[in-house]
Amino acid sequence: MNKVLEKTLKFNNGLEIPQVGLGTYKITDESENLESIKAALENGYKHIDTASIYNNHKTVARAIKESNINRKDLFITSKVWNSHHKYEMAKQAIDDILNELELDYIDLLLVHWPTEDRLECWKALEEAVEEGKVKSIGVSNFQPQHIEELLKVCKIKPVINQIELHPALQNQQVVKICKENDILVESWGTMIRGKCFDIEEIQLLAKKYNKSTAQICLRWAYQLDYVIIPKSSKPSRVIENVQIGDFELTLEDMNLLASIKEYRDGPDPDNFDF
Ligand SMILES: NC(=O)c1ccc[n+]([C@@H]2O[C@H](COP(=O)([O-])OP(=O)(O)OC[C@H]3O[C@@H](n4cnc5c(N)ncnc54)[C@H](OP(=O)(O)O)[C@@H]3O)[C@@H](O)[C@H]2O)c1
Repeated sequence: MNKVLEKTLKFNNGLEIPQVGLGTYKITDESENLESIKAALENGYKHIDTASIYNNHKTVARAIKESNINRKDLFITSKVWNSHHKYEMAKQAIDDILNELELDYIDLLLVHWPTEDRLECWKALEEAVEEGKVKSIGVSNFQPQHIEELLKVCKIKPVINQIELHPALQNQQVVKICKENDILVESWGTMIRGKCFDIEEIQLLAKKYNKSTAQICLRWAYQLDYVIIPKSSKPSRVIENVQIGDFELTLEDMNLLASIKEYRDGPDPDNFDF
């Protein structure tokens, strides 16, 4: 039993999310990466992060079915893609996600990026909660100004903001506004999307703790109470990456990670052509 996979964090609506899940970006219905999702479920993962744009809802549905795990013991996140943020389209997208995943409800549904139609999408998400289609709703890649705007008009407060967040992009302003408003922070790209091996400070700590560079990045985020969703298409890495419960980074080492030269791997939400 891996205790790291058992740990949950509480949302501002009282529901809980397993702090660690499996990311699935680039695992597609065509890529035959079913084995990595199955390996995750067989080895104690309860939480899977997907999105309409990943084109893998059917593979996720199959892995869930074949796992024989009770639905209520799983936590499934998906996201409404940018092309479907207008109100009517978002409503349709939500039903499509439920159908593709073959689920009666989604645990967490996110607005994928802060497009200009983000508030229309939010209204559709709020209605999906009222209709019992979704348990909790949140946002992704929202900057402080997007969060402030949403908090002024929402009926239901977002429970989480999923952002690019790793030792080389500590995103302090977004983290601060989330904390001030009781919104959990979720890190995507925690392993710097595989680039963690190239960074000297991370290599140094990997040697010191006798862990992989991936595990150093994941432990950093885990210690800071961020939700993490490391992705791998390889079953052995899916298991190894989350062996992070048996060591703790010292304050000095956390500070060393904070000193890494800033690097953003994905698009900047402030300059993203939606
Ligand atoms: N909300 C958003 O806009 C957004 C954006 C991006 C991602 N996400 C979500 O966040 C999840 C995580 O982000 P991510 O997938 O971009 O990046 P990530 O989890 O930081 O890194 C994944 C990459 O690292 C490699 N990798 C994994 N474990 C490794 C290990 N132990 N040693 C060497 N390489 C390793 C993977 O390759 P292999 O598969 O070959 O192992 C893959 O190329 C995604 O899967 C997705 O669910 C959300």
